Amino acid sequence: MRGIILAGGRGTRLYPLTIAVSKQLLPVYDKPLIYYPLSILMLAGIRDVLIISTKEAIDQYYSLLGDGGSFGINISYAIQEAPRGLAEAFIIGEEFIGGDDVCLILGDNVFHGQNFSSTLAEATKHNVGATIFGYSVKNPKEFGVVEFDRDLNVLSIEEKPARPKSSYAVPGLYFYDNSVVEIAKSVKPSQRGELEITSINNEYLRRKKLKVIPIGRGTVWFDTGSPDGLMQAATYVEVMQNSQGLYIACLEEIAWRSGFISSKQLEEKGRSLAQTDYGQYLLNLAKTGK
Ligand code: G1P
Repeated sequence: MRGIILAGGRGTRLYPLTIAVSKQLLPVYDKPLIYYPLSILMLAGIRDVLIISTKEAIDQYYSLLGDGGSFGINISYAIQEAPRGLAEAFIIGEEFIGGDDVCLILGDNVFHGQNFSSTLAEATKHNVGATIFGYSVKNPKEFGVVEFDRDLNVLSIEEKPARPKSSYAVPGLYFYDNSVVEIAKSVKPSQRGELEITSINNEYLRRKKLKVIPIGRGTVWFDTGSPDGLMQAATYVEVMQNSQGLYIACLEEIAWRSGFISSKQLEEKGRSLAQTDYGQYLLNLAKTGK
């Protein structure tokens, strides 16, 4: 399975923060926002990642993450010329995806929870068609909304409906089989002029190949596209990390625990960041081995 992070868009809801800086490079407490979605792909066991961003920002992502070697993964980069919608990721990424399945995560989505890695493993291993998630929210109108029955059969999926049929938003994390490329090419732009991910999901629903996994209590999801979302995510990370002493979205830690990098590589990275708590955390992991 291959992974795509879509980190494009103008981030207009965050202006003036994002006039000169790409949204997914903004800090969420002690790390750039993009670390969080990248950590989710890595926790899903994905080692081939494509980052899609704007022409202006792409070099900055490369400065930050390089070819992925320090996290034991392969990162490639592509440009989205204009914000033409999430579904365009599969057209831009066609060559990268090749004949594989693919997971798309939005660059501004933050997930965290105790059993979330097992949820990801389930989505990766048992994906037949498309797998999406459902997350109960107070303001479903602002998102894609999924309606499903007790047996988790999807009944409908609508993009930002005026009258939501359920309180379950669809977070920006999607698993697809290889037919997503062909489906993306056939999608027509919506009224807001975008190739909607919801149109892709509706096509899988029509083919009876759309599965939903409800995210239960104890797992959080933040869409950090607004100042409030960004602040809430940062506060959450600060509280969790300082309470437990365990880092969220520490890419080197995930790489090391997954066997993508050695203890020596972990230690070297820790030494290069030794003046920060982050670096000390890595050094301590390397030293104690747990
Ligand atoms: C997009 C999707 C929407 C999804 C949301 C999650 O919305 O279109 O279905 O619920 O991401 O973050 P957008 O951020 O493009 O308005």
